Amino acid sequence: MSSPTSSPTTVITNIASLVTNDPSLGDGSPLGLIQDAAVVVDGDRIAWTGESSKAPATDNRVDAGGRAVIPGFVDSHSHLVFAGDRTAEFNARMSGRAYSAGGIRTTVAATRAASDEELEANLTRYLAEALRQGTTTMETKSGYGLTVEDESRALRIAARHTDEVTYLGAHIVSPDHADDPAAYVSLVTGDMLNACAPYARWVDVFCEKGAFDGDQARAILTVGKAKGLHPRIHANQLSYGPGVRLAVELDAASADHCTHLTDADIDALANSATVATLLPGAEFSTRAEWPNARRLLDAGATVALSTDCNPGSSFTSSVPFCIALAVRDMKMTPDEALWSSTAGGAAALRRTDIGRLTPGAYADLAFLDAPSHVHLAYRPGVPLVTQVWRRGVREV
Ligand code: NIG
Ligand code: FE
Repeated sequence: MSSPTSSPTTVITNIASLVTNDPSLGDGSPLGLIQDAAVVVDGDRIAWTGESSKAPATDNRVDAGGRAVIPGFVDSHSHLVFAGDRTAEFNARMSGRAYSAGGIRTTVAATRAASDEELEANLTRYLAEALRQGTTTMETKSGYGLTVEDESRALRIAARHTDEVTYLGAHIVSPDHADDPAAYVSLVTGDMLNACAPYARWVDVFCEKGAFDGDQARAILTVGKAKGLHPRIHANQLSYGPGVRLAVELDAASADHCTHLTDADIDALANSATVATLLPGAEFSTRAEWPNARRLLDAGATVALSTDCNPGSSFTSSVPFCIALAVRDMKMTPDEALWSSTAGGAAALRRTDIGRLTPGAYADLAFLDAPSHVHLAYRPGVPLVTQVWRRGVREV
């Protein structure tokens, strides 16, 4: 195959099973699964996918050795710009204490006290950790600064490492404004937004008792939207509430957590372009009840699966771990969990150039030391990802 850009082309061949996420390919399922497959990479993009025997000639050849190949995971929800440690809080919780949003204040204090270098070193460490586990796109947020300076520096640092950056000044009411939440909402929608918007693509609110109510969340997201940021919402995590319906009303890309949903919430999601992003690491690490993935899927909602990696409620960067939880405890099939953590994550970021291995998409992919993606749930806790390519370059 000759390259229009004259970059060398590479065929990855001898793939036991390939997840393309294109239902017009292979077995015709949503995963577009091709057995005995090959992928051609041209520069940073996929140029061709199909059966090995039909692969075009290329400059280079890589033998997958009968492994499975999947799109790199798209982790559409994490909180990686932070400092400090909440081991003691986790330990207390595992001894019976309940999780509450209040723990966020511990991380806010440590994050404010940290240098830029320390924050950036933490961020790059967790991004590298995720990459080793197959994650090739990672959204991340501010939310542990809660001042104009601390929120904007978090986003400035994040924007050096990912395009998917979210302004979460409305994580909790800043401890400095504990007596005057309305003044904090004014700051979040005023000076803080102005300082943060240049570095962010998304605006998010933790819509929850103890954080921001529906009216505050609507105000923050509406002003953020007018500033060119697109909404996403932490919704219905700890209790029933207005978050999910607000997400749909504002055409948010995603309603995240979705643990406590009424039938009306499910209907609203199913009839919208808003993705329901499930974060089972949070339920695991807070011993909370699982979101009902089956109810969402059976109603026709689009479901994404992500880590929510953060030091308080879900300190895992592992999408394979979340897949295992989703299959075992949330009754997703292995196919659904794989789709949700790749194409679903891409949908939650309103992207079509990632989360799929079809011509024109970025060549972001992971090799599994297993014959199929089902092993991600079948062999929980086993490091099956052996090779990761991002933008056509092998990085792991
Ligand atoms: O997604 N829900 C709000 N934010 C995080 C928790 C952050 C923390 O506890 O530090 C979450 O679970
Ligand atoms: Fe979160």
